[in-house]
Amino acid sequence: MRASVTFVALAVASVSAQTNYNFTSELDMTIDPNTVKQSDRAVWCRAQTDTCSLLCNKNAEVNSCTESTLKWNCTCGSNSSTPGIEFYQQTVPYFICEALYGQCIQQGAGTIRGQDVCNDNIKPLCATNPPPKEPVSDSSETSGTATSHGF
Ligand SMILES: *[C@@H]1O[C@H](CO)[C@@H](O)[C@H](O)[C@H]1NC(C)=O
Ligand SMILES: *[C@@H]1O[C@H](CO)[C@@H](O)[C@H](O)[C@H]1NC(C)=O
Ligand SMILES: *[C@@H]1O[C@H](CO)[C@@H](O)[C@H](O)[C@H]1NC(C)=O
Repeated sequence: MRASVTFVALAVASVSAQTNYNFTSELDMTIDPNTVKQSDRAVWCRAQTDTCSLLCNKNAEVNSCTESTLKWNCTCGSNSSTPGIEFYQQTVPYFICEALYGQCIQQGAGTIRGQDVCNDNIKPLCATNPPPKEPVSDSSETSGTATSHGF
């Protein structure tokens, strides 16, 4: 009897460790907002709107972030497009990526295979560029074509 209870517990643990994180970008990642402290969500949203503004040369058309859901919108006034938010730290997708990685590592703790999934499928997608300190380009001088952000 005791042996079969142990077996069930192990089976459950290995199922959760094998959660398949199948993402192609930070933008695919979601997190249950309730697993993130409200104060952290506030920090994430402030960083998100700051970074959006900088990536849009301080000319964002839409720049919103909702702390309770962690949903955000960012489009630039110059082209009504979303800039490359997923390539920068200090954005909601970046913080979700890092938090999901942390949760994944915890769930996979003790199983090498479980942690491999985190290191292979999540970590490489978490942005590595710090956000720009200033607007990414001076669009008053360079008309559109020079908006490279290939750091
Ligand atoms: C991962 O996602 C891609 C595209 O959504 C899909 O084609 C592929 O089968 C998925 N792989 C796994 C292992 O779920
Ligand atoms: C739109 O403009 C912003 C800066 O104003 C730029 O970062 C972004 O790459 C542009 N997007 C497209 C699709 O051209
Ligand atoms: C944000 O985008 C979503 C879907 O892309 C849209 O439904 C929502 O109205 C937008 N919110 C704002 C404030 O623009």
